[in-house]
Amino acid sequence: MIGGFRTRARLFVAALLKEKLEPGRAAAAVFVGIFIGIVPIYGFQTLAAVGAAFFFRLNKPLTVAGTFINNPLLQPAIIVSSVEIGYFLQGGSFRPFHLSALTGAHVKQEMMAFVMGSVVLGVLVGGVGAVTTAIVIELKAPANPGLRDRVRFVKGMFAQCAWADREFVRWKLRLDRIFGLLAAEDLGSGTVVDLGCGYGMALSFAAFGDSSRPLVGCDLDGHRIAVARQALGELNVDLSVADIRGFELPPAGLILILDVLQYMGGDEQMTLLQRCCSTLEPEGVLIFRVHDRERGLWSTITMAFDRLIFAFGRAGIRPLTLGAAEYRGVLENAGMRVEECRFRNRLPLAHILFIARKPIAEAAT
Ligand SMILES: C[S@@+](CC[C@H](N)C(=O)[O-])C[C@H]1O[C@@H](n2cnc3c(N)ncnc32)[C@H](O)[C@@H]1O
Repeated sequence: MIGGFRTRARLFVAALLKEKLEPGRAAAAVFVGIFIGIVPIYGFQTLAAVGAAFFFRLNKPLTVAGTFINNPLLQPAIIVSSVEIGYFLQGGSFRPFHLSALTGAHVKQEMMAFVMGSVVLGVLVGGVGAVTTAIVIELKAPANPGLRDRVRFVKGMFAQCAWADREFVRWKLRLDRIFGLLAAEDLGSGTVVDLGCGYGMALSFAAFGDSSRPLVGCDLDGHRIAVARQALGELNVDLSVADIRGFELPPAGLILILDVLQYMGGDEQMTLLQRCCSTLEPEGVLIFRVHDRERGLWSTITMAFDRLIFAFGRAGIRPLTLGAAEYRGVLENAGMRVEECRFRNRLPLAHILFIARKPIAEAAT
């Protein structure tokens, strides 16, 4: 009987430890744990943490771990800070605190200050813990296991490049969620074409696991193409400084256009997308990213950020992003099967990733 209980307990603990650590929910677990650890419900904190974790479906070990903020080392600081915050909330100023106050004539008032202050302190410290947790998990844990190896592969490609270019690549790989999304997609087979390829990061990303895969890229920026040539030199690559509007597209299994369409006029964008659809091979896939115009404040921030980039880069034009329906329309008219993935990046930018696959039947007609 004891053996059965032990086995069940072990399975239960193992299941708890394997609970998913998605950044937002992990942050919520840490917040709740720290908050419960700070408010004065001594003796019930673990119980309250487990209950809250079940109720809000949070990661249980993490929620309980958050309560460990209340330990013999930190408890004096927690009590003093809580009382001082309470004094401030009650009287608008801090004043010296003595433990004797908690047993003196004004004990009720002092306890009130303690409780009020502990709630505010719990929210503040819990908030800091939550943000830190979310950032650490975002940076450390890739969204899917395939991503880690691909990222390592791309970083390795750029290892010999100049410091500034290498660092740009490193930070972009860290901050841009596009790589997690691409790693989760079937990137097809055959030639990869990256229009406006910049440093060629997406090309090397697509070549992971098949370094003989033909890679074709073009960009107006001569420096970026030079860096891409140096980094991707060992791959089967053909890179040119060219304008995508006149670029002759080879038959391809995968075409990428990441953050480039907004440099062109509306008609030019449509024409380019039509050309891509017709040049794709059967079952080929066209993946492009544009800003999301339909996400309220996030869209406003995203558009403003892009206008700044264009201004700093002296592009001489304003970025132009069309509505999602216009992009979807041109793809569907070309017979493509279209998926849209709306996402917010680690920088608070709102994007849509269009993934358009060419059906075999379409290719036969
Ligand atoms: C925001 S960057 C994106 C680079 C790359 N696609 C990536 O995701 O890292 C936009 C790139 O598009 C290039 N570009 C803009 N208009 C272009 C055009 N008409 N033809 C070729 N490249 C263009 C710029 O030089 C720049 O490198």
